[in-house]
Amino acid sequence: MSFLHDYLPSCQARVERVLDRYLPSAQSEPRRLHEAMRYATLSGGKRLRAALVYATGETFGARPEQLDAPAGALELIHAYSLIHDDLPAMDNDDLRRGKPACHREFDEATALLAGDALQTRAFEILANDADPAVSAQQRREMIARLADAAGSLGMAGGQAIDLEAVGRTLNLAELEDMHARKTGGLFRAAVALGALAAPQTPVGALAPLDRYAACVGLAFQITDDILDVEASTATLGKPQGSDQRRKKPTYSAILGLERARALAHAQYQTALASLVGLGDNVQLLIEIAAYIQDRTR
Ligand code: IPE
Ligand code: IPE
Ligand code: MG
Ligand code: MG
Ligand code: MG
Repeated sequence: MSFLHDYLPSCQARVERVLDRYLPSAQSEPRRLHEAMRYATLSGGKRLRAALVYATGETFGARPEQLDAPAGALELIHAYSLIHDDLPAMDNDDLRRGKPACHREFDEATALLAGDALQTRAFEILANDADPAVSAQQRREMIARLADAAGSLGMAGGQAIDLEAVGRTLNLAELEDMHARKTGGLFRAAVALGALAAPQTPVGALAPLDRYAACVGLAFQITDDILDVEASTATLGKPQGSDQRRKKPTYSAILGLERARALAHAQYQTALASLVGLGDNVQLLIEIAAYIQDRTR
Protein backbone atom coordinates (compact mmCIF):
# COMPACT_ATOMS: atom_id res chain seq x y z
CA MET A 1 0.00 0.00 0.00
CA SER A 2 1.37 3.42 -0.90
CA PHE A 3 0.81 6.42 1.33
CA LEU A 4 0.17 8.80 -1.56
CA HIS A 5 -2.03 6.61 -3.74
CA ASP A 6 -3.95 4.57 -1.20
CA TYR A 7 -3.63 5.71 2.39
CA LEU A 8 -3.86 9.50 2.00
CA PRO A 9 -6.98 9.35 -0.24
CA SER A 10 -8.66 6.97 2.22
CA CYS A 11 -7.88 9.34 5.13
CA GLN A 12 -9.13 12.29 3.09
CA ALA A 13 -12.43 10.57 2.32
CA ARG A 14 -12.85 9.44 5.91
CA VAL A 15 -12.12 12.80 7.55
CA GLU A 16 -14.39 14.62 5.05
CA ARG A 17 -17.28 12.47 6.28
CA VAL A 18 -16.26 13.02 9.89
CA LEU A 19 -16.02 16.80 9.45
CA ASP A 20 -19.36 16.93 7.66
CA ARG A 21 -20.88 15.23 10.69
CA TYR A 22 -19.08 17.40 13.25
CA LEU A 23 -19.91 20.74 11.62
CA PRO A 24 -23.22 22.48 12.29
CA SER A 25 -25.75 22.26 9.46
CA ALA A 26 -25.83 25.22 7.06
CA GLN A 27 -29.59 25.25 7.60
CA SER A 28 -29.26 25.96 11.32
CA GLU A 29 -29.07 29.54 12.60
CA PRO A 30 -26.95 31.61 12.34
CA ARG A 31 -26.83 30.29 8.81
CA ARG A 32 -24.20 32.59 7.37
CA LEU A 33 -21.72 31.72 10.11
CA HIS A 34 -22.40 28.00 9.72
CA GLU A 35 -22.08 28.27 5.94
CA ALA A 36 -18.69 29.99 6.38
CA MET A 37 -17.48 27.31 8.80
CA ARG A 38 -18.46 24.57 6.34
CA TYR A 39 -17.06 26.47 3.34
CA ALA A 40 -13.63 26.90 4.91
CA THR A 41 -13.41 23.38 6.30
CA LEU A 42 -14.97 21.21 3.57
CA SER A 43 -13.10 22.90 0.74
CA GLY A 44 -10.42 20.37 -0.06
CA GLY A 45 -7.06 20.47 1.63
CA LYS A 46 -4.57 17.68 1.75
CA ARG A 47 -5.74 16.50 5.20
CA LEU A 48 -2.18 15.70 6.21
CA ARG A 49 -2.71 16.41 9.88
CA ALA A 50 -5.65 14.01 9.92
CA ALA A 51 -3.55 11.43 8.05
CA LEU A 52 -0.86 11.75 10.72
CA VAL A 53 -3.43 11.13 13.47
CA TYR A 54 -4.76 8.03 11.68
CA ALA A 55 -1.32 6.71 10.73
CA THR A 56 0.13 7.12 14.21
CA GLY A 57 -2.93 5.67 15.93
CA GLU A 58 -3.16 2.71 13.56
CA THR A 59 0.56 2.03 13.99
CA PHE A 60 -0.20 1.39 17.67
CA GLY A 61 -3.32 -0.68 17.29
CA ALA A 62 -6.21 1.82 17.06
CA ARG A 63 -9.10 1.30 14.67
CA PRO A 64 -9.85 4.30 12.41
CA GLU A 65 -13.15 5.03 14.16
CA GLN A 66 -11.24 5.47 17.43
CA LEU A 67 -9.25 8.25 15.75
CA ASP A 68 -12.06 10.25 14.13
CA ALA A 69 -12.40 12.75 17.00
CA PRO A 70 -8.72 13.77 17.16
CA ALA A 71 -8.37 13.72 13.35
CA GLY A 72 -11.43 15.97 12.98
CA ALA A 73 -10.30 18.26 15.80
CA LEU A 74 -6.87 18.76 14.18
CA GLU A 75 -8.40 19.66 10.82
CA LEU A 76 -10.82 22.12 12.47
CA ILE A 77 -7.99 23.96 14.23
CA HIS A 78 -6.00 23.94 10.98
CA ALA A 79 -8.97 25.31 8.99
CA TYR A 80 -9.42 28.08 11.57
CA SER A 81 -5.72 28.96 11.36
CA LEU A 82 -5.94 29.26 7.56
CA ILE A 83 -9.02 31.51 7.67
CA HIS A 84 -7.28 33.93 10.02
CA ASP A 85 -3.93 33.62 8.19
CA ASP A 86 -5.55 34.88 4.96
CA LEU A 87 -7.21 37.95 6.52
CA PRO A 88 -6.06 41.40 5.37
CA ALA A 89 -4.56 42.02 8.81
CA MET A 90 -2.35 38.96 8.39
CA ASP A 91 -1.23 37.62 4.97
CA ASN A 92 -3.97 39.36 2.98
CA ASP A 93 -4.46 36.48 0.55
CA ASP A 94 -7.62 36.14 -1.54
CA LEU A 95 -7.33 32.52 -2.64
CA ARG A 96 -7.33 29.38 -0.53
CA ARG A 97 -7.67 25.78 -1.71
CA GLY A 98 -8.46 27.04 -5.21
CA LYS A 99 -11.42 29.16 -4.10
CA PRO A 100 -11.95 32.66 -2.70
CA ALA A 101 -10.60 32.91 0.84
CA CYS A 102 -13.32 32.82 3.50
CA HIS A 103 -13.27 36.59 4.06
CA ARG A 104 -13.66 37.14 0.30
CA GLU A 105 -16.52 34.66 -0.11
CA PHE A 106 -18.25 36.01 3.02
CA ASP A 107 -16.84 39.06 4.84
CA GLU A 108 -14.11 39.74 7.38
CA ALA A 109 -16.31 39.66 10.47
CA THR A 110 -17.87 36.35 9.42
CA ALA A 111 -14.41 34.93 8.69
CA LEU A 112 -13.15 35.94 12.12
CA LEU A 113 -16.15 34.37 13.81
CA ALA A 114 -15.99 31.20 11.71
CA GLY A 115 -12.36 30.77 12.83
CA ASP A 116 -13.30 31.36 16.46
CA ALA A 117 -16.15 28.86 16.31
CA LEU A 118 -14.12 26.19 14.51
CA GLN A 119 -11.50 26.44 17.21
CA THR A 120 -13.93 25.93 20.09
CA ARG A 121 -15.74 23.14 18.20
CA ALA A 122 -12.43 21.22 18.03
CA PHE A 123 -12.12 21.16 21.83
CA GLU A 124 -15.80 20.33 22.27
CA ILE A 125 -15.31 17.28 20.03
CA LEU A 126 -12.33 16.06 22.05
CA ALA A 127 -14.27 16.56 25.27
CA ASN A 128 -17.49 14.88 24.10
CA ASP A 129 -16.78 12.59 21.16
CA ALA A 130 -13.45 10.93 21.88
CA ASP A 131 -13.67 7.13 21.75
CA PRO A 132 -15.14 5.66 24.96
CA ALA A 133 -12.07 3.41 25.27
CA VAL A 134 -9.93 6.52 25.77
CA SER A 135 -9.60 7.14 29.51
CA ALA A 136 -10.56 10.47 31.09
CA GLN A 137 -6.90 11.10 31.82
CA GLN A 138 -5.88 10.49 28.20
CA ARG A 139 -8.71 12.72 27.00
CA ARG A 140 -7.54 15.51 29.31
CA GLU A 141 -4.03 15.04 27.97
CA MET A 142 -5.29 15.22 24.37
CA ILE A 143 -7.15 18.48 25.07
CA ALA A 144 -4.12 19.96 26.82
CA ARG A 145 -1.76 18.97 23.99
CA LEU A 146 -3.97 20.49 21.30
CA ALA A 147 -4.51 23.69 23.32
CA ASP A 148 -0.78 24.06 23.84
CA ALA A 149 -0.07 23.47 20.14
CA ALA A 150 -2.63 26.05 19.02
CA GLY A 151 -2.00 28.72 21.66
CA SER A 152 0.41 31.57 22.23
CA LEU A 153 3.37 29.22 22.72
CA GLY A 154 2.41 27.29 19.58
CA MET A 155 0.60 28.22 16.37
CA ALA A 156 -0.82 31.60 17.45
CA GLY A 157 2.56 32.55 18.91
CA GLY A 158 4.35 31.50 15.74
CA GLN A 159 1.95 33.61 13.70
CA ALA A 160 2.71 36.60 15.95
CA ILE A 161 6.46 36.12 15.42
CA ASP A 162 5.83 35.79 11.65
CA LEU A 163 4.00 39.14 11.53
CA GLU A 164 6.53 40.94 13.72
CA ALA A 165 9.32 39.69 11.47
CA VAL A 166 7.91 41.10 8.21
CA GLY A 167 10.59 43.08 6.41
CA ARG A 168 13.31 41.97 8.85
CA THR A 169 15.76 39.16 8.52
CA LEU A 170 15.85 36.42 11.11
CA ASN A 171 18.81 34.26 11.99
CA LEU A 172 18.50 30.52 11.50
CA ALA A 173 17.60 29.80 15.13
CA GLU A 174 14.84 32.44 15.08
CA LEU A 175 13.49 31.15 11.78
CA GLU A 176 13.42 27.58 13.07
CA ASP A 177 11.70 28.68 16.28
CA MET A 178 9.00 30.56 14.32
CA HIS A 179 8.31 27.59 12.03
CA ALA A 180 8.40 25.09 14.91
CA ARG A 181 5.67 27.07 16.62
CA LYS A 182 3.45 28.07 13.74
CA THR A 183 3.42 24.70 11.94
CA GLY A 184 5.41 22.21 14.00
CA GLY A 185 3.01 22.54 16.93
CA LEU A 186 0.00 21.15 15.09
CA PHE A 187 2.05 18.33 13.54
CA ARG A 188 3.31 17.36 16.99
CA ALA A 189 -0.24 17.48 18.33
CA ALA A 190 -1.49 15.28 15.46
CA VAL A 191 1.06 12.58 16.26
CA ALA A 192 0.60 12.90 20.03
CA LEU A 193 -3.20 12.67 19.84
CA GLY A 194 -3.02 9.65 17.52
CA ALA A 195 -0.61 7.96 19.94
CA LEU A 196 -2.71 8.84 23.01
CA ALA A 197 -5.91 7.50 21.41
CA ALA A 198 -4.30 4.15 20.55
CA PRO A 199 -4.46 1.17 22.90
CA GLN A 200 -0.93 -0.16 22.40
CA THR A 201 1.32 2.89 22.43
CA PRO A 202 4.25 2.16 24.75
CA VAL A 203 4.95 5.12 27.06
CA GLY A 204 8.53 5.13 25.80
CA ALA A 205 7.33 5.77 22.24
CA LEU A 206 5.91 9.21 23.00
CA ALA A 207 9.22 11.11 23.09
CA PRO A 208 10.66 9.63 19.85
CA LEU A 209 7.30 10.17 18.12
CA ASP A 210 7.38 13.80 19.25
CA ARG A 211 10.86 14.24 17.76
CA TYR A 212 9.63 12.64 14.52
CA ALA A 213 6.63 15.00 14.38
CA ALA A 214 8.69 18.12 15.10
CA CYS A 215 11.03 17.26 12.21
CA VAL A 216 8.18 16.45 9.84
CA GLY A 217 6.43 19.71 10.77
CA LEU A 218 9.55 21.76 10.17
CA ALA A 219 10.21 19.99 6.85
CA PHE A 220 6.60 20.70 5.91
CA GLN A 221 6.88 24.46 6.48
CA ILE A 222 10.29 24.69 4.79
CA THR A 223 8.72 22.99 1.76
CA ASP A 224 5.76 25.39 1.95
CA ASP A 225 8.24 28.29 1.76
CA ILE A 226 9.97 26.68 -1.25
CA LEU A 227 6.66 26.02 -3.03
CA ASP A 228 5.66 29.67 -2.54
CA VAL A 229 8.58 30.49 -4.85
CA GLU A 230 8.55 27.50 -7.21
CA ALA A 231 5.01 26.24 -7.69
CA SER A 232 2.14 27.88 -9.57
CA THR A 233 -0.99 29.45 -8.13
CA ALA A 234 -3.03 26.83 -10.00
CA THR A 235 -1.13 23.95 -8.38
CA LEU A 236 -1.07 25.48 -4.93
CA GLY A 237 -4.65 26.76 -4.87
CA LYS A 238 -3.24 29.81 -3.04
CA PRO A 239 -1.41 32.84 -4.42
CA GLN A 240 2.13 32.00 -5.54
CA GLY A 241 4.70 34.58 -4.43
CA SER A 242 2.64 35.78 -1.47
CA ASP A 243 5.63 35.54 0.90
CA GLN A 244 7.85 37.62 -1.38
CA ARG A 245 5.18 40.28 -1.84
CA ARG A 246 4.71 40.51 1.92
CA LYS A 247 8.48 40.41 2.60
CA LYS A 248 8.07 37.36 4.81
CA PRO A 249 11.04 35.84 6.55
CA THR A 250 11.01 32.40 4.92
CA TYR A 251 13.60 29.66 4.51
CA SER A 252 13.73 30.31 0.78
CA ALA A 253 14.19 34.07 1.24
CA ILE A 254 16.79 33.85 3.98
CA LEU A 255 18.80 30.79 2.91
CA GLY A 256 18.02 30.43 -0.79
CA LEU A 257 16.29 27.45 -2.37
CA GLU A 258 19.22 25.05 -2.37
CA ARG A 259 20.03 25.40 1.31
CA ALA A 260 16.33 25.33 2.19
CA ARG A 261 15.97 22.04 0.30
CA ALA A 262 19.02 20.62 2.08
CA LEU A 263 17.57 21.57 5.46
CA ALA A 264 14.21 19.97 4.64
CA HIS A 265 16.09 16.80 3.70
CA ALA A 266 18.09 16.89 6.93
CA GLN A 267 14.82 17.14 8.89
CA TYR A 268 13.49 14.15 6.95
CA GLN A 269 16.54 12.09 7.87
CA THR A 270 16.27 13.04 11.54
CA ALA A 271 12.57 12.16 11.44
CA LEU A 272 13.42 8.67 10.15
CA ALA A 273 16.17 8.23 12.74
CA SER A 274 13.62 9.02 15.48
CA LEU A 275 11.50 6.03 14.40
CA VAL A 276 14.30 3.52 14.89
CA GLY A 277 13.43 1.35 17.88
CA LEU A 278 9.64 1.79 17.52
CA GLY A 279 9.12 -1.63 15.94
CA ASP A 280 8.46 -2.85 12.40
CA ASN A 281 5.08 -1.23 11.99
CA VAL A 282 6.24 2.31 11.23
CA GLN A 283 6.23 2.09 7.42
CA LEU A 284 3.35 4.56 7.04
CA LEU A 285 5.12 7.14 9.21
CA ILE A 286 8.25 6.72 7.07
CA GLU A 287 6.22 7.24 3.89
CA ILE A 288 4.51 10.36 5.27
CA ALA A 289 7.90 11.91 6.04
CA ALA A 290 9.10 11.10 2.50
CA TYR A 291 5.93 12.54 0.95
CA ILE A 292 6.27 15.77 2.92
CA GLN A 293 9.72 16.63 1.70
CA ASP A 294 8.97 15.58 -1.91
CA ARG A 295 5.57 17.18 -2.20
CA THR A 296 4.73 19.47 -5.09
CA ARG A 297 1.58 21.05 -3.64
C1 IPE B 1 -0.91 25.29 4.80
O1 IPE B 1 -1.08 23.98 5.23
C2 IPE B 1 -0.45 26.12 5.97
C3 IPE B 1 0.85 25.75 6.47
C4 IPE B 1 1.06 25.40 7.69
C5 IPE B 1 2.01 25.79 5.60
P1 IPE B 1 -1.48 22.83 4.20
O2 IPE B 1 -0.60 22.89 2.99
O3 IPE B 1 -1.53 21.53 4.92
O4 IPE B 1 -2.95 23.25 3.76
P2 IPE B 1 -4.14 22.36 3.20
O5 IPE B 1 -4.90 21.84 4.37
O6 IPE B 1 -3.57 21.26 2.36
O7 IPE B 1 -4.97 23.33 2.38
C1 IPE C 1 0.72 29.57 7.83
O1 IPE C 1 1.91 29.76 7.20
C2 IPE C 1 0.87 28.79 9.04
C3 IPE C 1 -0.38 28.80 9.81
C4 IPE C 1 -0.32 28.65 11.07
C5 IPE C 1 -1.69 28.96 9.20
P1 IPE C 1 1.75 30.40 5.75
O2 IPE C 1 1.17 31.76 5.82
O3 IPE C 1 3.01 30.20 5.02
O4 IPE C 1 0.63 29.42 5.13
P2 IPE C 1 0.06 29.58 3.66
O5 IPE C 1 1.25 29.54 2.73
O6 IPE C 1 -0.68 30.87 3.61
O7 IPE C 1 -0.81 28.37 3.49
MG1 MG D 1 1.08 33.29 7.19
MG1 MG E 1 -0.36 32.61 4.54
MG1 MG F 1 3.20 29.71 3.03
